[in-house]
Amino acid sequence: MSVLLLSGARHLIENFRKSAKGLEIQEVESRYFPDNELYLRIPSKPKEDVILVQSMHGEPDKRLTETVFAAKTLKELGDCRITALIPYLAYTRQDKRYKEGEAISQILTLELLSFSGIDKIITIDAHFHAGMPKIKGLEIKNLKLASHFKSFFEKFRGREDYVVIGPDDDAFELANLLAKELELGSGFIDKKRLGDEKVELFSINVEVKGKHVILMDDIISTGSTVVEAIKFLRKKEAKEIHVVATHGLFVSNAIDKLKALDVQSIITSNSVPNPFAFLDVVPILLEELGL
Ligand code: R5P
Repeated sequence: MSVLLLSGARHLIENFRKSAKGLEIQEVESRYFPDNELYLRIPSKPKEDVILVQSMHGEPDKRLTETVFAAKTLKELGDCRITALIPYLAYTRQDKRYKEGEAISQILTLELLSFSGIDKIITIDAHFHAGMPKIKGLEIKNLKLASHFKSFFEKFRGREDYVVIGPDDDAFELANLLAKELELGSGFIDKKRLGDEKVELFSINVEVKGKHVILMDDIISTGSTVVEAIKFLRKKEAKEIHVVATHGLFVSNAIDKLKALDVQSIITSNSVPNPFAFLDVVPILLEELGL
C-alpha cells in the first residue's frame, strides 16, 4: 500500500508521516503551465493498493481536475485499487436542481471521480443531507466528525447550563451527536438561505436564555450562517458561545466577521488549513482504513 498526496492535502503530509509509519508517502507532482493548464506526474509505479489523498478547498475546480488526472493516470500505469481520502469533498451542497437548468454538481463530481478510476471515497461530513448518493461502481463512506470534537469540551460534560445548537436543521444531526457524547441538551435554529452570503434565522426549538452554547455546523464558508446564528443566540440571551465546524473554509472575510463577535472559541478540523484547525483528521481517516 502507498499513500499519494495531491495539492489540497499537502498541509497534511507531516501528519501522515507521523501517523502512517511504515507506509510509503509521496506527493504527486503537479503544477500549472503559463496558460493555466495542469501538468501532473505520478512519481513511481503504483502499488496494488493506492491511497490517494486530496482535500478540495480553495480552488475546487483545480483540485477536482487534479484528482481525476491522478486517478486515471494511476489506473493506466498499473492494475491498482484506488481509495481516495477526501476529507473535504467540494461541490456536495448542490444536490438537486433548485432552479430549472441547474447542474447537479454533487452527482457530477462523484461521477467524474468514479470515471477516473477511484474505487472508494472516504470523506468527512460531506453535505449528503438529501441522502447518500448512489454512483455505480463507487463505494462512498461519509465519516461523522462530531463526536471527535468532544475532547475540547470535556469540562462541560453533563452541565445543565450548556447546550449544543445546530445553526440550521441540517446541522442538527451533528449537534445532536456531539451533545450525546457530552451528555448535553441540543437543538437547532430554523434558517432560510436568501443568497450566497445572506441567511435569515427565524426560531429555535430549545431555550438558550442564560445558557452557554456550543454552535456546531459542518462547514463555515462565508461565515454568514454562524455569524447570524451568534447574533440570534445573543438576542435570545445566550451567554458564552463556542463555534465548532468540521470544515473551516473561511472565505469572504469570515474570520474577521467572527472575530468581531468575540466568541469564546472557534474550533475546526484540519480538513482545510486555517488558523483554528485543532482537530487532526489524519488518524481518523487511517483508522477507517484499519491502519
Ligand atoms: C449549509 O447548509 C451548510 O450546512 C452550512 O451552514 C453552510 O454551507 C455555511 O455556509 P456560510 O458560512 O457561507 O453561511
